[in-house]
Amino acid sequence: MRSCAIRLRALVNIYGGDLFTVSEASADVFRDPDTGFSFSQKDVAITTNNNFITFRIAIPSPAPAGQPYDAVIQIVAPVAAGWVGAAWGGSMTNNPLLIGWANGASGVVSMRRATSHTAPTAYTGASVQLLKKGTKSNGTHWQVTAKCTGCTQFTTTGTTTKTLNPAGSNRLAFAYSKTKPSQPGSDTSTINVHDLFNYWDHDFASAGNPEFQDLVDRNL
Ligand code: HEM
Repeated sequence: MRSCAIRLRALVNIYGGDLFTVSEASADVFRDPDTGFSFSQKDVAITTNNNFITFRIAIPSPAPAGQPYDAVIQIVAPVAAGWVGAAWGGSMTNNPLLIGWANGASGVVSMRRATSHTAPTAYTGASVQLLKKGTKSNGTHWQVTAKCTGCTQFTTTGTTTKTLNPAGSNRLAFAYSKTKPSQPGSDTSTINVHDLFNYWDHDFASAGNPEFQDLVDRNL
């Protein structure tokens, strides 16, 4: 489930970056043969020995600035990960938390929100839909792919609205736990606190898909 992006990036690094015209952004685009989406992707380290989770995001193109737009997220995680969450606002509190985990050969996604550093509760301000063709697992990794409506524009605190920039980079956060949710078949399952959290900047400018809606429909 790895792409050639890593090798490409390694090559660019070996040659000092400036001998090549390949940019970091273009090297991090993954064209998914399973779903047809073109994703902007980022690997985030979860151990010191090269274990990582891959976050991929696809959005419509063009996406109007300042307006909400749907997003598709694909999470690829080692089987050791019990659940993985993405925080669209870049912190645990006051923004949509999209959590995914494996459930046998399939997967489950759940939208939650927290106002403090305690277990997040169900969040109805955003809706998430699993895309079956991008959801699978094998002996080493599980993968979920889901469309979110309400993850790119949301209320943070009070009446403050945050809109993720479709033409630039957005600061996101993730968390993962080694413990599986207690009822893996239910999107309302209790989850344990994470073993690790961290932040990354995700490039949305290279996440655009002109056929976004068609691809969503084809992958339901
Ligand atoms: C049972 C569920 C959860 C509990 C009990 C919990 C609890 C906590 C606690 C106590 C901290 C503070 C840790 C510290 O400062 O060292 C924290 C931080 C954090 N958590 Fe959670 N958490 C849960 C679920 C989640 C989920 C689902 C996500 C993301 C999808 C998440 C993302 C983060 C992040 C990014 C931080 C760093 C501080 C921040 O940005 O607010 N957490 N959590």
